[in-house]
Amino acid sequence: MARTSPAMWTAADVQSDTGWILRLSDDASAALLAAVRGAGDPDRPLLDWRREDFALGPCLPTLAAAFREVRDGRGMALVKNLPRAGVTAAEFRLMTWAIGLHFGVARPQNRASDYITAVQDAGTTYRSPTGRGYSSNAELDFHVDSADVVLLSCYNQAPVGGMSLCVSAATAYAIVQAERPDYAAALASDYTFSRNGEQADGEAAWYPSPICTVEDGRVFCKWNRNRLENAQKLDGVPRLSAVQRAAMEYFDAVLRRPQTMFSMHLEAGDLQLLCNHTMLHSRTGFEDHAAADRKRTLYRLWLAPPDWRRLPEGWAAFYGTAESGAVRGGIRGHQYDVERQQFDARQGAAMGMRTAA
Ligand SMILES: [Fe+2]
Repeated sequence: MARTSPAMWTAADVQSDTGWILRLSDDASAALLAAVRGAGDPDRPLLDWRREDFALGPCLPTLAAAFREVRDGRGMALVKNLPRAGVTAAEFRLMTWAIGLHFGVARPQNRASDYITAVQDAGTTYRSPTGRGYSSNAELDFHVDSADVVLLSCYNQAPVGGMSLCVSAATAYAIVQAERPDYAAALASDYTFSRNGEQADGEAAWYPSPICTVEDGRVFCKWNRNRLENAQKLDGVPRLSAVQRAAMEYFDAVLRRPQTMFSMHLEAGDLQLLCNHTMLHSRTGFEDHAAADRKRTLYRLWLAPPDWRRLPEGWAAFYGTAESGAVRGGIRGHQYDVERQQFDARQGAAMGMRTAA
């Protein structure tokens, strides 16, 4: 397998070369906590905060290196040693938000147009037509999230399970190209993804996108089995052809080969960053703590950074625009109100970005 970009790696590669794992120094970690505590009430509405409310100085170089690794390197990074001892859940959440304010424009994530979500078992049924994995304890399919970058900060880990799984889309697609060029061609054709009932006013209930697109030698991947299956239940959606369906199954099986699938255990105080164009992720099912304050809790933030790549043209149907330097992606949902629109415009301006129509 000829390596065409640093984003193309095997599980053995990222196990043996851990340059993608970064660690905040104890001083930088303390400064991060001081910045969050110094800013004020952590329960204030998230959209009220401004970038300049948080003086993140000493931890910015490490975080910037992590973002560079996600954009130009392996597509994933792990930052360890976020402050956690004695930190409340509200402070930890605000810390995640503060990091986001320095590196891009947060994007809404669901029907309720939330800009940060607690990844916790809330008893959701993952396989229902409108189900989402983040609020269940189920083992998830591999998928990409619906914005350029996803940040997951780990406040509490589960006592059993909840392993984080990552695959390089470039590696998986190269395997399919080598073994089944007919399936590789099918994966490059348009599939239909359901919006799972999360569409905002003026948005259709589904959208077309290839699963894999190669542009400028890089593989861009869009994969979410639930949304593909759910789209097939909607009126007016083109049916999957036999070869498209077979290609999906083949691709999914390749993702779970030991050669491709990398497994890591996020610990409390870890921050995982993934590029959703080049990386697929999943997690194993978990058993939770009985005590409410110890339950598995991760904070998820979706970001549009100012300096990310141009997307394949076909991706504009979901992202709003393929252009770089634009506030793009996310799930605007049903509550995308004036306050949220103003946040997008204000934070986009602070980052020097255009706000997509
Ligand atoms: Fe996800």
